[in-house]
Amino acid sequence: MTGDTQLFVVRPVRSDELDKVMRINLETLPENYSREFYLYIYRGWPDLFLVAEVDGEVVGYIMCRVERGYSEFSRFFKPVRKGHVISIAVLPGYRRMGIGTALMKKALLRMAERGVDEVYLEVRISNIPAINMYKKLGFRIMRTLWRYYRDGENAYLMARPLK
Ligand SMILES: CC(C)(COP(=O)(O)OP(=O)(O)OC[C@H]1O[C@@H](n2cnc3c(N)ncnc32)[C@H](O)[C@@H]1OP(=O)(O)O)[C@@H](O)C(=O)NCCC(=O)NCCS
Repeated sequence: MTGDTQLFVVRPVRSDELDKVMRINLETLPENYSREFYLYIYRGWPDLFLVAEVDGEVVGYIMCRVERGYSEFSRFFKPVRKGHVISIAVLPGYRRMGIGTALMKKALLRMAERGVDEVYLEVRISNIPAINMYKKLGFRIMRTLWRYYRDGENAYLMARPLK
């Protein structure tokens, strides 16, 4: 951002932009998904599948869904509505401008509107940029998921209450 001028907009993805999102995902993350999976999220949770646009170009995305599960914050098996951040990425040339934060904030807002109780995500334990961003957004490391990724790396499960 420069002064009061925001250089990017965050908005729901359009169906003709799914290929672009897939390309950003392939370029930035080793966790990739089929076209059908992107469509499944787009159809099921269109308000939780957002893109960031700069000068008419999609430069980042976030993709979430709502699940039912047990609370990460209760010692008992308390059933809650959980928001799951499946994937988020910003193209390298557009990082450190607040786009990742803006994507997450808008997704959290939309999830709150859907009555979600808490939000969780998995992140590689070596992914310091993402872990820092999630911590700034109020997420806490809840536990380690051993050998969660195909290459054997561990994940942190991070979560935050939404209410
Ligand atoms: C993680 C990612 C989405 C962050 O996007 P971004 O638009 O650069 O994030 P922001 O500009 O909103 O940064 C927010 C905060 O995150 C932290 N952060 C971001 N990049 C960082 C870096 N390279 N090193 C350390 N901390 C970093 C900082 O605390 C930053 O706040 P600051 O700029 O005020 O210091 C981006 O780095 C990315 O796309 N990475 C590759 C894909 C990925 O790892 N996705 C997450 C998978 S779980």
